[in-house]
Parts: sequence; C-alpha cells; structure tokens
Amino acid sequence: MSVLKADHISIQFGGLRAVNNFSLEMNEKELFAIIGPNGAGKTTVFNMLTGLYQPTEGAVYVNEKLMTNCKPYQFTEAGLARTFQNIRLFGQATVLDNVKMAQTFRTNYSYYNMLTRTGKYYEEEKRITERSMELLEMFDLQDKRNYFASNLPYGEQRKLEIVRALATDPKVILLDEPAAGMNPNEIDDVITLIRRVREELGKAILIIEHHMKMVMSIAEYIKVLDFGETISEGVPEVVQNDPKVIEAYLGVHVNDSRG
Ligand SMILES: Nc1ncnc2c1ncn2[C@@H]1O[C@H](COP(=O)(O)OP(=O)(O)OP(=O)(O)O)[C@@H](O)[C@H]1O
Ligand SMILES: [Mg+2]
Repeated sequence: MSVLKADHISIQFGGLRAVNNFSLEMNEKELFAIIGPNGAGKTTVFNMLTGLYQPTEGAVYVNEKLMTNCKPYQFTEAGLARTFQNIRLFGQATVLDNVKMAQTFRTNYSYYNMLTRTGKYYEEEKRITERSMELLEMFDLQDKRNYFASNLPYGEQRKLEIVRALATDPKVILLDEPAAGMNPNEIDDVITLIRRVREELGKAILIIEHHMKMVMSIAEYIKVLDFGETISEGVPEVVQNDPKVIEAYLGVHVNDSRG
C-alpha cells in the first residue's frame, strides 16, 4: 500500500520556484532519501509533504488520502510524522513528558474523564507511559527519562526527536538531517536505529541527509535535488555514479567533512 505520494508538486515563493515538479511514491517499510546541495529545496519538499506549506501545484497523499488544504495535525492523524532540521523539543519538560505529549492527540479519554480523573484517564495515562518507555528503551534513553530535554547532549536530543515522532504511531516518518552535528559513533548508532525502526516497527522512512556514507548504506532509492529540480534518482549505485550528481553535489562537497 502507498503510504506517501507526492504527485508533481511545486511551490513558488515570490519569484523563486523553490521546488519544481517533484514526485515520489513510497510503500510500507520502504526507506528512501532525498539529497542535494544546501538550498536545493529538500526541507521545502518535507514542508509540503507535512502540511506546513501548500504546494502551488500538484497533490500529496498520505495512506492514499488526498491531503490538499489539510493542516499539519491532519497529516499526523493520517499517519505521518517528522523531525525538523533544527531541534524542536520542550527543553524545560522531562524526556518522558516530551514523548508523552507527542502521543496525547491519540488519547481515548474525554475531557470529562480528565477532569474527574476517572478510571479511563488512569488506564490511558498508564498505556501512554508504557508505550513512551518502550520507545525510550529502544533508543537507550530510558535512564534519562527524568532529565530536562535541554540537559541531554546534542546527539541524544536528536534521538529524542525521533522518539517523539514515533510516539504518534505513524506509518511513515520523515527525518530531516537526523545525523547533523553528530560524531562518527553517534552516526553509526543512528544508522542502526533507523534500520531497527523500519524492521522492528515496520515504518516507512524518508530521510534528508548530507552524510553520503549513511545515505548510500541505508537508502533503497534516492532522489537528488538541485535548485528545486530533480536532477537524478534511482538506487544508490546509479545515483552515486551519475555525472550530474557528482557535478552538482558530490563535487561541491568533495573536500567537505559532511561528504
Ligand atoms: N518560506 C520561504 N519563503 C521564501 N523562500 C523560502 C522559504 N522556504 C524556503 N525558501 C527558499 O527555498 C530554497 C530551498 O530551501 P530549503 O530549505 O528547502 O533547502 P534545503 O535543500 O533544505 O537546504 P539545506 O541543505 O541547507 O537544509 C532556498 O532558496 C530557500 O531560501
Ligand atoms: Mg534543509
């Protein structure tokens, strides 16, 4: 089943066509990547795929539901979750509360249950806490559940963001540069975790990432953007050897630590 589909989407900001004619279709459990130089339009594609921006042309589908004019929370309800290029956590809330908050839109208790703290409220609260702890354990953050999120080291904040996205129980998850700013050990850890999210939790995953080693080792299919255009796409071997990609992207980053 198709979990995410972009059908020829474009967006214009004033005179700038930030993304032109982008298409993508992902099925359950697939792992795709979008790469391209800085400013190529990658995050803008994510913003259109998650309801933050409305495409000026084309359409987005989540789990085969047409999402035109839907708000980001409706994308979440349809089964999609994302992380942001810049970390967005509740720094003054605990690690556990950050994950619980992400789940609350799925609660089955009514406002009345909450006010009166009836059985249903406690049942739900228990279920949410248990589910949150399972995810924190998967990411080895369980011992830090009572830390303020802002007190976690940077690499763990990025992991907590992924946990928060998973907490909404999506079918497809979009990760915007999950390994940005991480050291090599942390990157290996994140690669392993992304594989487990797909294999053990059965999620489809779309990542934007600059670390070529990471992209080439985990993505099954890659789309390459440059100035908003899709200049190449295919399996890693094809994209890696495409002269257009080497010129537009790899060439630029050849001596760059991100490469
Ligand atoms: N809301 C906006 N208004 C105007 N221009 C925008 C807006 N959002 C993005 N852009 C422009 O669209 C282009 C693509 O930006 P985008 O952030 O998608 O690039 P990116 O590929 O994610 O780059 P990076 O690798 O640096 O994160 C840039 O020229 C950017 O300035
Ligand atoms: Mg970006």
